[in-house]
Amino acid sequence: MNDATAASAVTRANADAISREISWLEKVIEARLGHFFDGTTTPFAVPPAPTQERGTVLGDLIARTGMNTSARMVLALAVAPHVNSAVLDPFYVKNSAIDRAFSQFGGHPDAGAAFIPSVETALFLIAGTDTAARIGAMQLFDPDHPLRLSAGVTLTQTPPSQVSRLDIPVHRVVALCDGKPPRPDFSPNFPARRLTTKLRWDDLILPAGVRDQLQHILSWLENRDQILDDWGMERVFGRGYKALFYGPPGTGKTLTATLLGQRTGLDVYRVDLSMVVSKYIGETEKNLGLIFDMAAERDWILFFDEADALFGTRTATASSNDRHANQEVSYLLQRIEECQSLVILASNLRSNIDDAFFRRFQSAVGFARPTVPERLQLWQNTLSTVPVAEDVSLRRLARDHDLSGAAIANIVRHAAVSALRREGETVATEDIKSAITAEMRKEGRTS
Ligand SMILES: Nc1ncnc2c1ncn2[C@@H]1O[C@H](COP(=O)(O)OP(=O)(O)OP(=O)(O)O)[C@@H](O)[C@H]1O
Ligand SMILES: [Mg+2]
Repeated sequence: MNDATAASAVTRANADAISREISWLEKVIEARLGHFFDGTTTPFAVPPAPTQERGTVLGDLIARTGMNTSARMVLALAVAPHVNSAVLDPFYVKNSAIDRAFSQFGGHPDAGAAFIPSVETALFLIAGTDTAARIGAMQLFDPDHPLRLSAGVTLTQTPPSQVSRLDIPVHRVVALCDGKPPRPDFSPNFPARRLTTKLRWDDLILPAGVRDQLQHILSWLENRDQILDDWGMERVFGRGYKALFYGPPGTGKTLTATLLGQRTGLDVYRVDLSMVVSKYIGETEKNLGLIFDMAAERDWILFFDEADALFGTRTATASSNDRHANQEVSYLLQRIEECQSLVILASNLRSNIDDAFFRRFQSAVGFARPTVPERLQLWQNTLSTVPVAEDVSLRRLARDHDLSGAAIANIVRHAAVSALRREGETVATEDIKSAITAEMRKEGRTS
């Protein structure tokens, strides 16, 4: 079997598992409604849940979390409107005595053509009208229940009716179907962007001490399961890890965060902090909340660039805008604190960060402007695939110009364009020199 067929076989198995579960839900609904309309004489027999083999996303989820029949009913009910809403149509039957829907079946009042299940619907399926059994089933909706934490079932209370709508985000459904959810797009509702790079870990030019600190973070990511689970340390400290990257612009902070993800196979998302200070305060918290939820669920590395806004001693509030901003910041700090994956905050200035805040990081990595030998390596790496004229002395360039890694990358780009503009076959010293001058001018310095 080649890779493509293997992948589609897995997807097929996942989809089959879900359709088995939904067919079972259909039988449960039929049995429950039959029992409800027949009167209470016949005992209610739950149709047996299908066996879900390990190896499918659903099967693994059920096995891992130990979900019982009731929990599986709730999950199937949340998934049904996304994959086969007709299964819920029987709930639309009208109570002819009063000519409206049966309130016992729950459902969301805003429902259009398709029935939208609510907590009430789930309780009815599980426990019928047996009050004690219904109360017993309520623990399924506890925020700590695997249905909420692992399966991602959501409850939304919608005023004015305060009906608790039962749902599950689409990306969860997709994940159940193919095991590999599409990555979310950047949008105002999702102010985070995935960072990628074609550079490799070996391209990073950093002093040995800094490399060692980064290696430590890598080792944490690679070995945390053993430390937390096998060595039982999860009770002492959680899965979260907070790192601070501080140092001048262009010294490799963003690149390093990106490469940590590349090395460990984890996605790195850069959160756009400009969205944090929004006047639509509730919206921002919801959007940020979504990022943190997804980060926890998918084990993303979260990267907050220019995080200084978060550290500043929070000033006395002048305007209501400031108050909102402060509230956002407090919310964000609390979520960072609780976050169960790696969070990296980047800042240009160590002095911006008060000591109390500093202590909360598991590691603080200082990036500095590169030394002469480091600059030589940066020049060599950046130019390694570029045809360079013989008169170019990288040693001299490294010695004479105090430039950051980012500046060197910019200069090489600028010089390459100049070389081609004058129809040169190689990048010459003059191209590099004029590029350096341009870069210095940009930085407000002179060479
Ligand atoms: N230490 C380094 N080793 C290798 N390349 C570097 C290094 N520093 C910078 N670069 C080059 O410069 C580019 C920009 O660096 P990066 O964005 O990581 O800097 P930064 O520290 O995040 O800057 P800022 O504070 O402005 O956000 C990198 O993609 C890389 O090409
Ligand atoms: Mg950066």
